Amino acid sequence: PKSRDYVFNVTLGRGNPDGFDKSMIFVNGQSPGPLIEANTGDIIRIVVNNQLPEESTTIHWHGIDQRNSNWMDGVHGVTQCAIPPGQSFTYEFNVTGQRGTFWYHSHDSLQYTNGLYGPLVIHDPDEKVPHIDDDKVVMFGDFFHVDAEVLLGEYLKPGGTMAGVEAPPDNIIINGHHQSNCTLTAGKPPVCTAGSLYKTRVQSGKHVRLRLVSHSTSTPFLFSIDSHTLQIIEIDGVEVEPIAATRVFMNPGQRYSVLVTTNQTAGNYKMHVAAARSCFHMGHGTSSFASVNYEAIGILSYDDTDLNAADIGKPWDLFGASNNVTGKEPWESQCRDLPFNLPKPIRKLAAYEVGERNNHSFTFSRENVNGTVRTYINEILYEPLLDDAVLWRVNKVETQQKGLSANWTFGADQFVMVSQDVDKGVQIVVNSNAMMMHPFHLHGQQFQIVGWGPGIFGEGGETTWNLENPMRRDTVTVPGYTHVVLRIRGDNPGVWALHCHILWHAEDGMFVQIAQRMDELENQIKALDGPNGQHPFRGRFCTVH
Ligand code: C2O
Ligand code: CU
Repeated sequence: PKSRDYVFNVTLGRGNPDGFDKSMIFVNGQSPGPLIEANTGDIIRIVVNNQLPEESTTIHWHGIDQRNSNWMDGVHGVTQCAIPPGQSFTYEFNVTGQRGTFWYHSHDSLQYTNGLYGPLVIHDPDEKVPHIDDDKVVMFGDFFHVDAEVLLGEYLKPGGTMAGVEAPPDNIIINGHHQSNCTLTAGKPPVCTAGSLYKTRVQSGKHVRLRLVSHSTSTPFLFSIDSHTLQIIEIDGVEVEPIAATRVFMNPGQRYSVLVTTNQTAGNYKMHVAAARSCFHMGHGTSSFASVNYEAIGILSYDDTDLNAADIGKPWDLFGASNNVTGKEPWESQCRDLPFNLPKPIRKLAAYEVGERNNHSFTFSRENVNGTVRTYINEILYEPLLDDAVLWRVNKVETQQKGLSANWTFGADQFVMVSQDVDKGVQIVVNSNAMMMHPFHLHGQQFQIVGWGPGIFGEGGETTWNLENPMRRDTVTVPGYTHVVLRIRGDNPGVWALHCHILWHAEDGMFVQIAQRMDELENQIKALDGPNGQHPFRGRFCTVH
């Protein structure tokens, strides 16, 4: 095993991914940040220098298990105090047993919406995927011209016009690129230079792996390439029996590797990243693509085709009718993370047996609380528990307007101890008692998706089970008014976040903490602590800075 060393200088600066000049957060001057690459078994070490003038930060390595290194998970207020401005923190962890496509992002408020994210790839000669000639990361996400912390303040502010309303994005960007219509300046930043499309070259007659990563804040997408079939070969770091698709549906935080055979005539081909409202509902009659209404495009160019000659139409006409995409095939075939058509992992693993005391169920419902939206968990509304590090941040001028801090730690009641029967697996049921779908992400391990059905688990709606070789991944879509049954081994000591990856929701309370093997964790921390109890995990409640 090697050690892979990186230095991340996190800075505030001006950027214009789609042409509109705005304030952004960069890693080493860029967004997306640099690609982290390692082989399975390596140690990754990243020195994060927080050079932001006023904000604390953390970085989370989305999809990395952090086996026996919970304190490196980078979740502000859960696994560490955020790194104050001007200070540094070194993340160090190994990636044994993992391979595939991951990403990293700030886990402190909405900083990734402002640009703090990047790709992370783990190679493994034993990865069970078809032959690959070329390998590219394609990251995309929704994009906002207004600073995300301002939008979050509006979202959380009781009684405001945007209270509880997920801000509609201004654009979609692909690897930090897109174009804008600079004549639409109403309420927009003053400086606009039209931007540019993401363009990439491939050779004819090759097998190209595109590693698709959604860094969206809330928008789900359909990805496609004109005239090309996509073979899905990997999902969230799990190799799957290849599936041919024309479009791939992705929610925030999810990854898909698709294999593209460059067997068309030389030329430019459009990549489409279309905002999609499909897959929202399952079994509720809404089965249409009709509400797909805007998209970003990129260009996949063969050989030495002139990229400038690309017929790109009006990519900036985001909300115009000209870019409407309507259904070309049954919606069921698109929603690959939905239960009825889950792919099969190539590395087989039967569903874990559930220990008698290891059965947990969360019902998330969304209600109006004092003029904004908050999430109830099992009918309880958790109040934010402000800690010193949070207060440090709240005292800053721009966060004072928020009403509620964007940056809270939830009450201790939200802890769920999941490993009482340590020789058995754990079942976690997520009930969505709300209209829209929620992509739930679990830290610290992949879960098995073993069951699903309409309504609340065990209360009428039938559960369909899949126990033989269930799909494993780390982010799953739970459609509105349905339940999804997850299982984990539950043997990774730590406190692990389970939350909706729509950031507005994570910030309004759709967030629980799963505690596993706390006795072992205690011993691990003691071993790291040294005589003065200085290890950052000791500061979980962030009393010292
Ligand atoms: Cu990708 Cu808890 O996050
Ligand atoms: Cu949600």
